[in-house]
Amino acid sequence: MIKLHDSYFELFLSEEEIQEAVGSLAEKIAADYKDEVPIFVGVLNGSFMFVSDFLKAYPHDCEVSFVKLSSYQGLTSTGIVETLLDVSEDIDGRSVVILEDIIDTGRTLQELVHLFTNTNVKEFRIASLFYKSEIYNGEYNIDYVGLEIPNRFIVGYGLDYNELGRNLTAVYQLKQTDMMNLVIFGKPGAGKGTQAGILKEKYNLVHISTGDLFRYNMKNKTALGQLAQSYIDAGDLVPDQVTIDMLQEEVERNPEAAGFIFDGFPRTTAQAEALDQFLESKGMMVNGCVALEADDEVLTLRLLERGKESGRSDDQDESKIRNRFAEYNEKTAPLKDYYTNQGKFHSISGIGAIEEITERLSAIIDQLPK
Ligand code: IMP
Ligand code: MG
Repeated sequence: MIKLHDSYFELFLSEEEIQEAVGSLAEKIAADYKDEVPIFVGVLNGSFMFVSDFLKAYPHDCEVSFVKLSSYQGLTSTGIVETLLDVSEDIDGRSVVILEDIIDTGRTLQELVHLFTNTNVKEFRIASLFYKSEIYNGEYNIDYVGLEIPNRFIVGYGLDYNELGRNLTAVYQLKQTDMMNLVIFGKPGAGKGTQAGILKEKYNLVHISTGDLFRYNMKNKTALGQLAQSYIDAGDLVPDQVTIDMLQEEVERNPEAAGFIFDGFPRTTAQAEALDQFLESKGMMVNGCVALEADDEVLTLRLLERGKESGRSDDQDESKIRNRFAEYNEKTAPLKDYYTNQGKFHSISGIGAIEEITERLSAIIDQLPK
């Protein structure tokens, strides 16, 4: 195991495995280009080691050049790709093979394709040593792939974590943490907020209520808050990625947490998938999903009672309450299926004394796989 900055990484691919992948890529490409002299264009910085070994393994005449792009900060792609070093001009009429170290979301690739579409090359193809098929956006065909890898953050062999790790000869993956991350659902009035408050003390978890997070970001006019506001002002839905980015900032603000309680997100299957992808890229996962269930009649009485005390108008109107239940049932049904399919769905009764319900929740949490 190795440590870079604040994170631990474990061996993922040995030097031999990498060299084998590089060798077979060189062989495949050589077979296609044996009758001409291609220009290999490495994408800096990450691909320098790959390009070096690739050229050594390439059996015919060839030329080499580089472009430089940047899109990653820390452990996740920022989505903003900058061209820092452009293609040279003497590539007109030539066959170009782009050598990428890794294709992740595909945003960098999109920028590369634009770069080369604006030139007069005879043709260009794309070769990537590593390829994260699970999250690639699939926009362009990747002509040559060295190794398909799962959606894990990796370092070594040119790839960095905040600039460290490029000099490693093997590839390491971010160590899976033994965090306890929960997704919690509950009908209005089922006691979700109360229970989340207790669980976070008991298990040293951080409660992330997406509603609170949005309100916080918009009130304080953070970059993401302003972005969210601009969609809302235009009458559009805030894209899931904005919410994920807010969650990411919140997760990164709490490096000491033993885990997180996600409350209010996901609300759709697409969001659940996005959450899984985000957590996976950080070596984390959803350990379990708990729904606090309660009979609609009991909850209605409880809410009406609460409405009398608090004066909250949405808690005083029985038909509005029933609508919220219907909406809950409709929205959570697909998510129940999603987490049930992963073997992570748990449902408990939210009726009883607060301590009793905490005990039911704890019984589930204590036996969740870490
Ligand atoms: P994409 O634009 O999301 O496809 O990301 C591609 C770029 O992000 C690569 O050229 C790398 O610089 C960086 N990158 C993607 N995944 C990783 C990783 O697992 N470790 C280190 N850098 C990565
Ligand atoms: Mg790169």
